[in-house]
Amino acid sequence: MAALDRMVERVQKAWPNVPVFKAYTSKAIRGRMVRAGEQADSVSEALQRLLDQGTKRVAVQSLHMIPGSEFHDLLPLASKFMLQENGFERVEVGFPLLAGEEDIEQVAQAILSVLPTHRKAREAVLLMGHGTLHPGNVYYEGLHDCIQQLDPDVFVGALEAEPGIEAIRDKLMQRGVEKAFLLPFLFGAGHHASKDMVGKSGHTWKSVLEKIGISCEAVLKGAGEYDALAAIWLAHLDEAMKRLERR
Ligand code: CO
Repeated sequence: MAALDRMVERVQKAWPNVPVFKAYTSKAIRGRMVRAGEQADSVSEALQRLLDQGTKRVAVQSLHMIPGSEFHDLLPLASKFMLQENGFERVEVGFPLLAGEEDIEQVAQAILSVLPTHRKAREAVLLMGHGTLHPGNVYYEGLHDCIQQLDPDVFVGALEAEPGIEAIRDKLMQRGVEKAFLLPFLFGAGHHASKDMVGKSGHTWKSVLEKIGISCEAVLKGAGEYDALAAIWLAHLDEAMKRLERR
């Protein structure tokens, strides 16, 4: 929520005359929010609400890290709301953080610019991505390869795909790493960061590394909280807003 609130503030600042609404692609998150008594629209519900209020044009900005299934599901949804009878004049979907070769380079540079400044030589950094079976997973690999060329002690791994923590642990061992910084490569530092990255169970990334004597320091901040990364999402929103103006 800290990451999302920051992002909404930035969008409101960049587009002061455009109303901003939040919607959630994750069913699990919506369920949890509704149980906590909060409003949590799906993208479809939010679009329907806007349509009912007479909105003509809408940009849907993805806040996903990579173009996986949640992002790709937005594309036919946007088309449906645009092409249906009495639909919107135009619906444009803005790209997620990593959506092309240029983004990979920019994201790599942005990450290197926000790493803990007290990190010493030979101390590793591990970015924990979510990972997916969708072909979009290739973006985590692309980012890993790009960032390795800039700093060979920075690794990108995935929680639910390859490379997982075991593969990365072996690489850190080979390099004789003694300390690693753990950063979520997730929009927000939520459930996965607290449960799977640093939680108390023996399967968290922290426990796996500590078991072989690598000390860990976690930075529990989501990608959406860093201005350097947010700027890339905002640039994608700019592009979507430009496409929105087409007749
Ligand atoms: Co998950």
